[in-house]
Amino acid sequence: MGKVLIVANLKSYKNEIEAKNWLDSFKKIKELNLDLSQKEIIICPSFTQLFSFFSYFSSNNINVKLGAQNVSPFDEGAFTGEVNAKQIKDFAQYVLIGHSERRINFGETEDMILKKVDSSLKYGLKPIVLVQGQENIIPEQVKTIAYEPTSAIGTGNPDTPENADAMAAIIKSKTKDIQILYGGSVTSINVKSFTAKTNIDGVLVGGASLDAEELLKIIQNA
Ligand code: PGA
Repeated sequence: MGKVLIVANLKSYKNEIEAKNWLDSFKKIKELNLDLSQKEIIICPSFTQLFSFFSYFSSNNINVKLGAQNVSPFDEGAFTGEVNAKQIKDFAQYVLIGHSERRINFGETEDMILKKVDSSLKYGLKPIVLVQGQENIIPEQVKTIAYEPTSAIGTGNPDTPENADAMAAIIKSKTKDIQILYGGSVTSINVKSFTAKTNIDGVLVGGASLDAEELLKIIQNA
């Protein structure tokens, strides 16, 4: 069994000062002396905070990885307002692609998602593709999928661990060597019920990760 992945999606929250406070709370991870040998932590802040998170974690020797929440479907070029994979790679190793909030609010299509995956892989970023159900395409070469039923996102109504495990099993039966995360209303209380399941390799945490102390509990309990 591989490491349990804990991915924190800070969404479009936190200005500079709030992010700094979050980091100062998260730094307590060092005092907790957690056994992280079997856990991999990936924090996904806004683009504007990627650099400060990167610097903070390196200068404080905190062993977590960074991810972006989105990436341009295009390579570098005349695409005003876009942040591309080559730029993200300077700070992050992962990128979230196809979050339902992007599909719903920004009209992100399967075609755009495929382009984003291609561009990420070209620059050595690892895509974490989010799917909401069996209807979504799982692009070839993607090794990490997060199953996030829309009804569970930000609602306090997570899927049942049994259902999430069954969905993870279906995805695994179709694709070789793939890790499946569960996302949707994960908290420090319910996290273990998901990570304990055979087919679930980790969790993607949104709202609960906005509180660094709660995220530390999630990491501890996962
Ligand atoms: P949630 O969000 O944990 O707040 O439900 C999950 C996500 O959007 O990735």
